Amino acid sequence: MFKIDDVVKRGVRAVTISASLLALAACQDDAVSQSTRDETAVTRAQTQFSQRVEGLLAEMTLEEKLGQLHQAAGGRSRNLNSRLTPEELDRVRAGAVGSYLHVAGAQPLAELQRVAVEESRLGIPLLFAMDVVHGYRTIFPVPIAMASTWDETDWQRAARISAEEASAAGLHWTFAPMIDIGRDPRWGRIVEGAGSDPYLGSRMAVAQVQGYQGESLAAGDTLLATAKHFGAYGVPTGGRDYGTAEIGERSLYEAYLPPFYAATRAGAGSMMTAFNDIDGVPSTSNEALIDGTLRARWAFDGLIVSDWNAIAELMNHGVAETRAAAGALALQAGVDMDMTSGIFVEELRQAIDADPALEADLDLAVGRILTAKERLGLFDDPMVYHQVQREQAELLAADHREAARAIAARSVVLLKNENAALPLELSEGRVAVIGALAADASTQLGSWRAQGRPEDVVSLLDGLREGAPEGVEIVYAAGADPLSDDLSGLEEAVALARSADRVVLVVGENFDMSGEARSRSDLFLPDSQRALASAILDTGQPVSVILVTGRPLAIPDIAARADAVLNAWMLGVEAGPALADIIYGETSPAGRLPVSFPRSTGAAPFTYSEYPGGRPADPDLARDTNRYMDQPITPLYGFGHGLSYSTFDYGALSGGVVQGEIRLAVDVTNSGDRAADEVVQLYMRDPVASVARPRIELRGFRRISLEPGASTTVHFTLSPAQAAVFQSPGVWQVEPGQLVFHVGGSSLYLASSVEVTIEDGFISDVPAAAIATRGETE
Ligand code: NOJ
Repeated sequence: MFKIDDVVKRGVRAVTISASLLALAACQDDAVSQSTRDETAVTRAQTQFSQRVEGLLAEMTLEEKLGQLHQAAGGRSRNLNSRLTPEELDRVRAGAVGSYLHVAGAQPLAELQRVAVEESRLGIPLLFAMDVVHGYRTIFPVPIAMASTWDETDWQRAARISAEEASAAGLHWTFAPMIDIGRDPRWGRIVEGAGSDPYLGSRMAVAQVQGYQGESLAAGDTLLATAKHFGAYGVPTGGRDYGTAEIGERSLYEAYLPPFYAATRAGAGSMMTAFNDIDGVPSTSNEALIDGTLRARWAFDGLIVSDWNAIAELMNHGVAETRAAAGALALQAGVDMDMTSGIFVEELRQAIDADPALEADLDLAVGRILTAKERLGLFDDPMVYHQVQREQAELLAADHREAARAIAARSVVLLKNENAALPLELSEGRVAVIGALAADASTQLGSWRAQGRPEDVVSLLDGLREGAPEGVEIVYAAGADPLSDDLSGLEEAVALARSADRVVLVVGENFDMSGEARSRSDLFLPDSQRALASAILDTGQPVSVILVTGRPLAIPDIAARADAVLNAWMLGVEAGPALADIIYGETSPAGRLPVSFPRSTGAAPFTYSEYPGGRPADPDLARDTNRYMDQPITPLYGFGHGLSYSTFDYGALSGGVVQGEIRLAVDVTNSGDRAADEVVQLYMRDPVASVARPRIELRGFRRISLEPGASTTVHFTLSPAQAAVFQSPGVWQVEPGQLVFHVGGSSLYLASSVEVTIEDGFISDVPAAAIATRGETE
């Protein structure tokens, strides 16, 4: 049996092992031990903290250092502050806690902070954290919906407002943005991210970091952002949350890590490691990835926090036998703060006694935590986050609601529109709104609702009622609830639909069907919703379907039979008015899908950006190609898809390499008869390279507004490094040769293309998808 010090040194699981296997195991362990201590890892000797932080490090006892590493739960996510007992205050006095999560409120947190700075020996302030993911009290659309605006200003604005509210409520730190690339809609957490594409995901990551952190973290209205969950949490096997990511190194670096690189360059103050493992190496103990790639190669200098209890779960993964060994592994890998397992504060001393070399890792972790507190200005003015009047003024302020409404309307994606079904331009008549989700205010808050309250939400039904033109009567029937099998309301719903001139059918998933641990094996609508949809469509009435969902759904029947399909995701506190703006034609929809909609569950996982393969899919079943026998080769609605109430024409894409930059331009005209937005999308293809390249890859986008008949020229400027091929972590090869650029209104509608020649190859050290294209409109 290995002893604790072997475990600590080697970073491998302590197992009871037979004598005959011992020799073999020992030499395997040596190999593991060499590879787990990444050669490029940042060392204490190379790191100089500020004078204040170095001074504190010199003064702190081991207990005080371990205390800084501990993040305790101040409550449960829906029962904040409930654990802030007198005993907890004693722990703060003793310096045994560095941070709290699931806490809130300018006033309750002021007392906690006061105890820390006035009554603990060294007066080190606490960090207060919460999952402010798409709003604090003013809840914005869920992230996958916000991704659908394809607009960096929207993403930044939502994050900025969230930070203004949360910081006014005593918080310093948000566990957002969630920037995991998701290509498997069975995975419930696809709702929390930017969808399937690393370029779009990188842009959204940067915009959110900038929004949360503002110009300076030391300002009292900013939050430390957390890019999470590092590194490949969105690829769990079978779509089951927390599961293994079985991916190759190229996919990891080309598809899943670019948003983390982009967030690093944007100055993200912290990152959270993922619960899962990549090919058997849990991210919480992955030294090569954390210390090697993130810190040493990318120069990330922020704070790294584990996910909830994830350090203890290293034992479940089977890489540590004891809590002390798990703590040592995580610390050695580069994790600074332990979210709730208590291992760093309780068991790390044992590990350090066994291996004093860990003390250098400990000092690095403490130094980074103190540096985060310093960057937030907490040593200089710890009480700046605790002004009760500011809290009252900020929460749900009128201009915050206005922004939430505008962003929600910009998130809606019009998937289908036939027979002039939308907008509903009626001056009189009866509109039947059918579906329990129409009246479900709570669902519009999504799964990370922070301090959002159902009573703050204007439901879809109320929005449609309030926005209805005079002379139009809105009638409502619930029909069926997504969480129930009770179909007794169908008859009334059908009768009401029959009695109306138009039907707006609201179906989909309740908020609790996506989010953490909410993976589904089935991408079709819940049974009751399918039954409701089918009964209403059978009436033969003109039906516009509103989808409420946190994931792409397989809706082949609805797509075939409804006149219009509008994907509303979950839109936040202003859901109803935003939907009404679209339905009644106040605004033309222009949201675009950040992830394709499949035809069936069996298609998952998928991406528009797959490799072409040797036998690319051909619709002709007589040929043996890369397709299913039982469904068409295209998705139901592709990545980037979204209609508007107008139409747009594209001119020829032109351009080439000028002074080392790829400069492209295209004319776009609003050829319809109403003002509308278009999302101009730029895709790249490298037709011949040293390794197969994706069919196409998004490399730029620009949301533009045009009056009817108006034209504009959209310019895109790129670096050849955006076509670089991953060779090894930190080495990206730009290969000489042809690149083909395509422009259009979706990945399936590519209007025109141009070929560009890269004359000279070179080596870059930046993940290609993380590099921003400059987009300008004339
Ligand atoms: C677990 C989730 O994975 C993570 O995203 C979240 O930030 C923490 N819990 C804290 O609530």
